[in-house]
Amino acid sequence: MPSHLQDAVTLNNGVKMPWLGLGVYQAKEGDEVEQAVQAAIRHGYRSIDTAAAYHNEEGVGRAVRQAIKDNGLSREDVFITTKVWNSEQGYESTLAAFEKSMDRLNLDYVDLYLIHWPVKGKYKETWRALERIYQEGKAKAIGVSNFQIHHLEDLLKDSEIVPAVNQVELHPELTQKDLLEYCGSKGIRLEAWSPLGQGNLLNHEALKEIADKHGKSVAQVILRWDLQNGVITIPKSVNKERIAENGNVFDFELDAQDMEVIDRLNRNRRFGSDPDNFNF
Ligand SMILES: NC(=O)c1ccc[n+]([C@@H]2O[C@H](COP(=O)([O-])OP(=O)(O)OC[C@H]3O[C@@H](n4cnc5c(N)ncnc54)[C@H](OP(=O)(O)O)[C@@H]3O)[C@@H](O)[C@H]2O)c1
Repeated sequence: MPSHLQDAVTLNNGVKMPWLGLGVYQAKEGDEVEQAVQAAIRHGYRSIDTAAAYHNEEGVGRAVRQAIKDNGLSREDVFITTKVWNSEQGYESTLAAFEKSMDRLNLDYVDLYLIHWPVKGKYKETWRALERIYQEGKAKAIGVSNFQIHHLEDLLKDSEIVPAVNQVELHPELTQKDLLEYCGSKGIRLEAWSPLGQGNLLNHEALKEIADKHGKSVAQVILRWDLQNGVITIPKSVNKERIAENGNVFDFELDAQDMEVIDRLNRNRRFGSDPDNFNF
């Protein structure tokens, strides 16, 4: 169990990834994303999750380089994830998209490169490109996002490398238990996007009760529940106080009953798109 914001989980290829990172979806390119990333790193975060589709890779790269300088860190201390967007999928186009992301980030390598969505008929070719990027050392680990069990089974039939991570929507109303078990059995680490249900779960009565019991916020209870389930989590905030709050989840523990109450809130409810039925 991680006991510090900088604790990391060892992925299936030996690479260490921090358990908790900052998500930057909808953080605006420029000042907003740069301030958020710098505040997070100053506060002790060591992982940032971006994507080509978030249109803020340049700001993320600038902020990471500045934060490394300001905090006496080296590049290896920070874990950067980015993702190939759907319209770029395919072998050659993914290789080109990766180079564009690298140019925007202005870094020598990324720590984790993900297929953003399982685009039908394309994701296997995209994965071949990720395998090459990995073999060339340009990404320290590769993985997928929004893959259901059947997508993973299909991918694993033809792949050389097992994805290190599957990043999916996961929160107390979408607990993803089957996927968690399946990924565990294959050595694929599950990572929660929209862990706070995009902010929609923060007034949930049952969660508030647990939060009050521990003297923590609902956001902190949810993030702690992720970690105790062995799930990497990447809450998004552009607010310094909330960034600090979300990182402050290592000084309390949910008991078995709390965990069970939260697990039972599952309604298979998505705030984002359904990986079996998306049209972008
Ligand atoms: N792979 C994918 O397809 C995919 C899809 C969606 C997201 N993601 C990744 O996952 C990350 C997180 O998901 P998300 O951004 O959709 O949603 P989220 O982290 O569940 O929720 C973010 C929302 O909650 C607010 N918030 C954050 N901390 C809070 C706190 N302690 N108290 C009150 N409000 C709080 C934020 O507002 P403020 O910013 O104003 O604090 C924002 O409106 C994304 O940023 C992205 O990196 C990946």
